[in-house]
Amino acid sequence: MKTLKLGFIGAGFIANFLALAMKQVRHCELAGIYAQNGGDQLAEYAKKNRLGEPKVFNTVSEICNHCDAVAILTPNYTRVAIMEEIAEAVKAGAPLKGVICEKPLGRTVEEAVRMVNLAADSKLLTSYFENQLHMNAINNALAQLRPQQEVMGNFTLARSTEEHAGPHSAWFWDPTQQGGGVLSDMGCHSIAAARHILTPAGKPVTFLEPVAMQCDTSLLKWGQPKYREQLLSKFGVDYAKTPAEDFATGILTLKNPETGQLVKAQFTDSWMYDKQGLRLWMDALGPGYAMEVNSLISPLEIFIGDEAAEGVADAETALEKSTASRGLLAVHPNEADLYGYTTELQDAVDSFLDGKNGLLDFAYGAEVTWLVQAAYMAAEKRVTLDLTDDKVKEELKTYRSLISQGKGAEVLFS
Ligand SMILES: NC(=O)c1ccc[n+]([C@@H]2O[C@H](COP(=O)([O-])OP(=O)(O)OC[C@H]3O[C@@H](n4cnc5c(N)ncnc54)[C@H](O)[C@@H]3O)[C@@H](O)[C@H]2O)c1
Repeated sequence: MKTLKLGFIGAGFIANFLALAMKQVRHCELAGIYAQNGGDQLAEYAKKNRLGEPKVFNTVSEICNHCDAVAILTPNYTRVAIMEEIAEAVKAGAPLKGVICEKPLGRTVEEAVRMVNLAADSKLLTSYFENQLHMNAINNALAQLRPQQEVMGNFTLARSTEEHAGPHSAWFWDPTQQGGGVLSDMGCHSIAAARHILTPAGKPVTFLEPVAMQCDTSLLKWGQPKYREQLLSKFGVDYAKTPAEDFATGILTLKNPETGQLVKAQFTDSWMYDKQGLRLWMDALGPGYAMEVNSLISPLEIFIGDEAAEGVADAETALEKSTASRGLLAVHPNEADLYGYTTELQDAVDSFLDGKNGLLDFAYGAEVTWLVQAAYMAAEKRVTLDLTDDKVKEELKTYRSLISQGKGAEVLFS
C-alpha cells in the first residue's frame, strides 16, 4: 500500500504535537524536517517512534524535492515567504504533490489570498489545518443528533470557546508578528467550529452564508502593570506600547441559503483563563435537543500534594498549557486525538493519496481569515458589520487591524 512522504517545515510546539498524533495515523511517514530550531530533536523522536527516517534539511527547496507533501508549521509571520519558496521549488521541478498549512492561513485577507493563489499556481493539493472541525467529540455528537435534527430542524445557536492562560512563544504575544492577539490566534478555531456545528447534515463546510459580525476585543489581564512586566521580562513584548487583546467575544450570524433561516455562532477566546490549562468548550442548541463538549472533563485525574509536587518534571505532559503541578489535576490519556490532530492528519494523508484536497482546503482557510478580520473590523468600528455589503467586502480585502499594526492602544485603552 502506498504511503505519503510528509515533510515538516517547523519543529516547534505544533510540529511535535502532530508527530505525537502521527503515531496513530496510517499510510504516512515523516520523511523530512526543515526548521530554524528543533529539527534534530524531532527527527530523533520520529526515528525512535518509527514514524520514519526523516532527513533534516537546510532549505525549503531540498525538503520539497524529497517529500510528497510538506506541512507549514512555522510562525504566522513566515507563512507567505515559505509558501513563495515552495512555489519556487515546484517551478524548478520539485515533485511535490500537496501542501498543508496550520491555522491561520494568513494574518490578513491579502496574505490568505496570496497563499491560495500560490498553491493554485503551483497546482498543489491543499489542506488547511483546523483541527477542531476534526474533533471526534464534536463529530460523534453530530452523528448521534442527525435523526433528531431531521425531525425537529437544525441547530439555531452554537457557542464555541477556546481559552488558556497565554501562549508559549514570544512571537504569539507580539501583535505585529502574530497578526493580532487571541482573536487572531484562537478566534479562527472558535468561529470555524461553531459554524461547523451549525451546518446541516450533508452540506459543505461553507454552506451557511455569513451575514453579520459583532465582536468585542479587550485586554483584561495582560495589560495590568504587574502582568505587563511579566510579559516584558519573559518575552520582551511591551503591552504598554503595543498591546493585543487577551479576550475576544462575538456573534457571527449565518443564513441557510435554502430556507433563509438565520442562526448564530457565538465565539469566545481568551489568554487569561487561569484554570487547569487549555479548555475547549462548545455547546449547541436545537429545538428539543442539545450537545456539549468540555475538554477539561477527563476520565482520568491525578492528585499531587504539596510535598510530592517538588518531583513534578513537566505539568504540561498532563494537559496542554497546564498552569498547576499540584492538587487535583486533569490528565488526558490521548490529547492529540481529543483535539482532532490525528483525524485532521489522517484526512490530509488519505485525501492527498487519493489526489484530492483535504476536507478543508486553502480557500476554506482564506474564508476563515476573512471572518476573523471582519471580527476585528467590527470591534474597531464598534458596529454590527453587514457582511453582505459590497463596501465592507471591498474594505476587508486590504484591511489590517489597528492591533496588528501595533496601534492596539487606540482600540484597547479607550
Ligand atoms: N492547531 C492548533 O491548535 C495550533 C496550536 C499551536 C500552534 N499552531 C500554529 O502552528 C504554527 C506554529 O506554532 P508553534 O506553536 O509550533 O510555534 P513555535 O514557536 O513553538 O515553533 C515554531 C517553529 O518554527 C521554526 N521556525 C521559525 N521561523 C522559521 C523559518 N523562517 N523557517 C523555518 N523554520 C522556522 C522554529 O525554529 C520552530 O521550530 C503557528 O502558525 C500557530 O498558529 C496551531
